[in-house]
Formats: sequence, structure tokens, C-alpha cells
Amino acid sequence: MTTEIKYADVDGQVSEILNKTFVTSFRNGYLKANDVVLPVYYRKFGQRILDMEIRDDDVWVCSYPKTGTTWTQEMVWCISSDLDFEGAKQFLPERFPFLDHTPLFDYEKDLLEKPDLKLPLYVLDSIEYINRMKSPRYIKTHLPYKLLPTKLKDQSTKAKIVYVARNAKDTCLSYFHHCRLLEGYKGNFDDFCKLFTSDSLCFSPFFDHLLGYWEQRNDPRVLFLKYEDMKRDLRSVIRRTGKFLGKDLADDQVLALEDHLSFESMKNNRAVNYEPVIEINKTYNLIDADGSFMRSGKVGGGKEKMSQEFVKLFDEWEGECLENSGLSFD
Ligand code: A3P
Repeated sequence: MTTEIKYADVDGQVSEILNKTFVTSFRNGYLKANDVVLPVYYRKFGQRILDMEIRDDDVWVCSYPKTGTTWTQEMVWCISSDLDFEGAKQFLPERFPFLDHTPLFDYEKDLLEKPDLKLPLYVLDSIEYINRMKSPRYIKTHLPYKLLPTKLKDQSTKAKIVYVARNAKDTCLSYFHHCRLLEGYKGNFDDFCKLFTSDSLCFSPFFDHLLGYWEQRNDPRVLFLKYEDMKRDLRSVIRRTGKFLGKDLADDQVLALEDHLSFESMKNNRAVNYEPVIEINKTYNLIDADGSFMRSGKVGGGKEKMSQEFVKLFDEWEGECLENSGLSFD
């Protein structure tokens, strides 16, 4: 069990691309924490996260970025709260905070001294915000299994983990748009594919991330979901998740939640579509990019946008990494 973090530099062929295209005023470089790529700022927080107290009624949604995390969070929160759609109007990061938010964005230079902007605690210190939350807590993280709080992995806790996975090509395309819109990436898609396939982006290695949780899938405290299954049959996933969370949903509740979780509904829902964050980034000139968080919500777009060379590379890479694991994507 991990109780301590060893830090190393990010090197390799593409670290030059990373430093040229993906360093901003709030992200001044990258490191490896137990072989996982993270911003250098993470060093201030890694041990605090490992040492966090866990509660038996915690529900964690864990994922590699852009795999349907927000969708899964909203589903988990609504099921757990017996479909409290009124309560769901509260901004998602307040009721379902992102543990690694503060370690990802070092706003010290940009935002902390703006007198007219009052940053909430879930931005200033996301770990402390979560420590102070009332139970039951709902917590999002993109950390791989090995960097989760030690006590969350202890057999004595009853806390639950819902993991959501997505195929590599679509994750890469979605991550590219996200990094341009919300994290200050300035390169092109080809360079982003290079960064993705060389496991140089935050929270990579990608397949290790998936497999770290996949190995826990038989633990009754862990539910492993796939974005592609949610797209194909959301009702079944809602029912499965309800059962996992100890909620027996009636048919009309499943239908009401399916409607609330539709792409169109979530795209227009300011509590979950991150429009308020995009607006702040624009107002304070943090990032100069257009787009929306709820971008396309489709399966298969990655393959269409990539060059044939990358499609081949992704297929070979996936074949090697997932061989004999029992994990596959449509
Ligand atoms: P795309 O960029 O492919 O559209 P995350 O929440 O992990 O950042 O994932 C974001 C991705 O999930 C985006 O993918 C987003 O559009 C998609 N998504 C969010 N809500 C969705 C929904 N209700 N239905 C389908 N896809 C959804």
C-alpha cells in the first residue's frame, strides 16, 4: 500500500512539446508522482491526500479526465439524494467537489490578489473543503488508484468508489478540447495525440489508470462503469448504480433521471456545464479559447478526427496494454 510519494522529473522525447505547448501562468511545469504525471504544484498536496481521513458513507467518483466524470457525478448525486432535482440546482463543484482541483491549478499569481474576486474554498484548498464537508460526502478525483488516500483503500472502510472509463481515442479528443478550453494548452491535435500516447499528460499513464481500478472491480465497494455503456443503455446503468448505492429505483424515477442526464439537458444546465468557470477564465484573461465543456457527447469521434497513423498507433497500444486483462471497449 502506498504511504509515501516519490517524485521525479518528466523526461522523454515529448517533454519538449509539453513544456512548449502546455505551460501557463497557473501551471509552470510537470513532475511524476510515483510514475504518474501531475503539475509540479502537486508536490505541496500529495502527502495530504494520501493521509486524508475517510468516512464510511463517502461516495467517490474516480476517473481519468474526459471519460464521463461529470455525467457520472450527476447520476450518483441524484440517485443518492432520492432525485432531489431542486438540490441539484446547486453548482456541482460545491456539492460534489474535485479533490485534485487545487493541486492542478496554481492560481497564486493570477487570481488570488484580485480584490473583486472571492474564490471559494473548493478552489483555494479543495482538500480542506472536503475535510470540512458534512456527511455524506460526494468526492470527485482523477487520481489513479495508487495515489488515492491510503484509508480509502483499506478493507475496513465502507466508502464506495464509482469508476468510469472511456475508450482511448475519444478520451484523447475530448481531453484535447478540454485542455485548450480550460487548462491553457496551446498546441495542435497531432502534438496532443503524441503527448497522450506517450503518457505525458496529467493523470497518465492512461491504461494503468484504467487497469488500476479494473483490478478492484470485484470488490463490492467498487463499481466499474464505461461511458460507452452509458451512451448505449443509460437506463441499465442508472439501475446498476442505484443497486450499488443501495437505492431501489422505481421505473418512473429511472425515466425522470434519464431525462435529467440527457446530453441536451446537461448541456443547458449551468449547475453542471462549467459555463461559470469558462466565463471567469475569460473575464480574467486566463485562457483565450472558445468552446463548451459539453462538447459533442458521442462515441467514435476520436477515430474520425485522428490521422490513420494515430488510429493504428492507438489500436496497437490498446491491444498491448489491455491484452489478457478482460477489459475492452466497443
Ligand atoms: P466530449 O468532449 O467527447 O463531448 P468529463 O466529465 O470526464 O470531463 O467528461 C466530459 C465528456 O463527457 C465530454 O465529452 C462531454 O460532452 C461528455 N458528457 C457530459 N455529459 C454527457 C451526457 N449527458 N451525455 C453524453 N456525454 C456527456
